[in-house]
Amino acid sequence: MKQIVADAAIKEVRSDMILGLGSGSTAALMIKSLANEIHSGKLKNIRGVATSFQSEVLALDLDIPLIDLASVSQIDLAIDGADEVDPSFQLIKGGGACHVREKLVAFKAKKLLIVVDETKMVQNLNKSFPLPVEVLPNAWNQVREEISKMNSSSTLRMAAKKAGPVVTDQGNLILDVLFNEGIKNPKDIEMRINNIPGVLENGLFVDLTDKVLVGKIENNIPIVYSPSKIG
Ligand code: 5RP
Repeated sequence: MKQIVADAAIKEVRSDMILGLGSGSTAALMIKSLANEIHSGKLKNIRGVATSFQSEVLALDLDIPLIDLASVSQIDLAIDGADEVDPSFQLIKGGGACHVREKLVAFKAKKLLIVVDETKMVQNLNKSFPLPVEVLPNAWNQVREEISKMNSSSTLRMAAKKAGPVVTDQGNLILDVLFNEGIKNPKDIEMRINNIPGVLENGLFVDLTDKVLVGKIENNIPIVYSPSKIG
């Protein structure tokens, strides 16, 4: 499902574009498909803007030309994955702890294309997938206490194959937050969390997404569809 949706996303790319290169396993497949199109000569003069150390390393390995976020005034198209997508295309991102740069890139993009498999499509955000919040290292407990006053609970994300917490590309930590009743008003929650001192950014992407491509298996055949935005 991830591969077909990654390939479908590349069909939206045109020569001469500045492209935001998302993070995560679906975005990684998209970056590999992009490299194939560039090296076969179908796409020319593409420049990528990485959203993470992961996408930067992958693009460098695959010889995709990169430019720095700070040196571009606008990105033509950003293609990224997501952890949850609701019917009005509000997202939770940050499952890979990359949502700070992902949001910066999405914000500078004329168009944000989200690529997911159908397990990511939900009616209500945060019923099961916790909201990632990037916090300054020495503020994590203070931020956790503040967030707990918002009818929610949070845990410090721990690393695999390393003792202690996940450290982000910016050198910060991640709190994963579950609201007791899910997130009903993403815009309000996004602002309220970002107002807590010590928070760098949270994984709610509100009113940023233009199009979603969803991969699913139907009658044993993988297909891609593009849902209409509701609301
Ligand atoms: C990373 C992200 C990813 O896009 C998100 O976690 C989806 O990843 P995957 O395609 O591996 O399911 O937001 O911070």
